[in-house]
Amino acid sequence: MSVYLDHAATTPLDPSVLEAMMPYLTSEYGNASSVHRLGRTARFAIEDARQQFAHLIGAEEGEVVFTSGATESNNFALKGTLKPGDHFITSLAEHEAILEPAKHLQKQGVEVTFLKPYPNGTVSAEQVENALQVNTRLVSVMYVNNELGTVSPIPQIAEICRKNGILCHTDAVQAALFRPRMDILDVDMCSFSAHKVYGPKGVGALYIRAGTPVQTTLIEGGAQERRRRGGTEAVAQVIGLVTAFEQTITKAEEHLLYLETIKAHLINQLEVYLGGRYIWNTPQDGTPTSPHILNLSFPPVNDEPIDGEMLLLNMDMAGFMVSSGSACTSGAVEPSHVLQAMGVPEKTAAATIRFSLGKHTTPTHIEAAVLALARILDRMGRKTNG
Ligand SMILES: Cc1ncc(COP(=O)(O)O)c(C=O)c1O
Repeated sequence: MSVYLDHAATTPLDPSVLEAMMPYLTSEYGNASSVHRLGRTARFAIEDARQQFAHLIGAEEGEVVFTSGATESNNFALKGTLKPGDHFITSLAEHEAILEPAKHLQKQGVEVTFLKPYPNGTVSAEQVENALQVNTRLVSVMYVNNELGTVSPIPQIAEICRKNGILCHTDAVQAALFRPRMDILDVDMCSFSAHKVYGPKGVGALYIRAGTPVQTTLIEGGAQERRRRGGTEAVAQVIGLVTAFEQTITKAEEHLLYLETIKAHLINQLEVYLGGRYIWNTPQDGTPTSPHILNLSFPPVNDEPIDGEMLLLNMDMAGFMVSSGSACTSGAVEPSHVLQAMGVPEKTAAATIRFSLGKHTTPTHIEAAVLALARILDRMGRKTNG
C-alpha cells in the first residue's frame, strides 16, 4: 500500500492541468516576447491566463504578477516595500519564505517584530495593533498556517493596517480552498503557489493592489511582467497555475465538505486506536482551521522522548507518507519553529506528525494509516489500543 498524506507539502499534478499545459510544452513553444505567430500565441495565452486568475481572486489583471512560486512572491512583497529604517511586523509562525527574507532585511537595517503566536498558533489583529510603531511600513501574517492549519483573521489585520496607513501582505498558499478574494480580504499584496492545488511546481503569483508602492523590479532583466519581473515567461507553468486554481476555486465548497468528513474520520480513528496518547497541535477548541491539515505530537514517556524521525521513517516503510510539518535539513528532522513559538515542550515537539489530506484521500487510507501508526508506536515501546 502506498498512501500520500502530505498534501500541504505538495499535491499531485491533476491530469486535466497537464492536458491544458501540454500544447505549450510541445507545439506552442513560442517566446511571448516574439512578434511572430508562435510568440503572439504565447502572449495571448499569458494575458488570457492573467485575466482569468485576476477574476478568480477578485482583482484586476494589472494587479497580478506571475512568479516562480510563493517563495519568490513573498520575497518580492517584503524586499519590494521595505527599506532600512522601516519597521516590519510578522509572526514567528510564518513559513521560512517570510522568515528568511525578514532576517535578511533585518541585517540591512529594517526593524522587525516577530509576533509570538497564541498557544493555538494564531496571530490576532490586537497583537498587530499593539506592535505598531511610527515607522511601521508593512505587516505580513499568513492566512492558513502550513504546519497547523490554523486560520488567522486576515480581514481584521488588514483593517488595522488600512486605518494606520500601513501596507498589508498575506501568504495565502495554504488557503486556496477558502477562495481568497482580494476585494474581501482587503490586503495590498497576497502570495499564491500552484503546486499546493494540483498544479505544477515552480510557478506562483503575487497580487499587488493597484497603486501599492512596490519597487517595480525584483528580478532585473527583460521587460516581462510589465517590467516587474525579468525572464522569459513560463507559459505552460502559468497555464497550469491558472487551470489548477480555476478547478480548486470552482470546486472549493465540495472539497471543503469532503475534507471535513475525512478529517472527522481521522480524528475518530486516532481516538479509537491512540486515545489519550497524543496531544493536538492543531487546536480542537473551535479555533478556525483548514480541514486539510491535522498536526499532533507524542509526549515523552518517563521523560524519554519518542524518536520522531524514526516514527516518520517507519510510517514511510509501511507505505504512509506523512510529515513532521517542519523543515527537513540534510535528512534530519529539525524541531518545528512553529511549535517552539507556540510553547510546545521540545521533547514533545520532537515526535510530531502532520497529516495533510487531499481530494484523493479516502476513509480506507485513514484507517490503514492510523492502524499502522498504532502498531509502529507499540513497536517503539509506546503502548496503544491498536
Ligand atoms: C505557507 C507557505 N508559504 C510558502 C511556501 C513556499 O511556496 P513555493 O514552494 O511555491 O515557493 C509554502 C510551501 O511549502 C507554504 O506552505
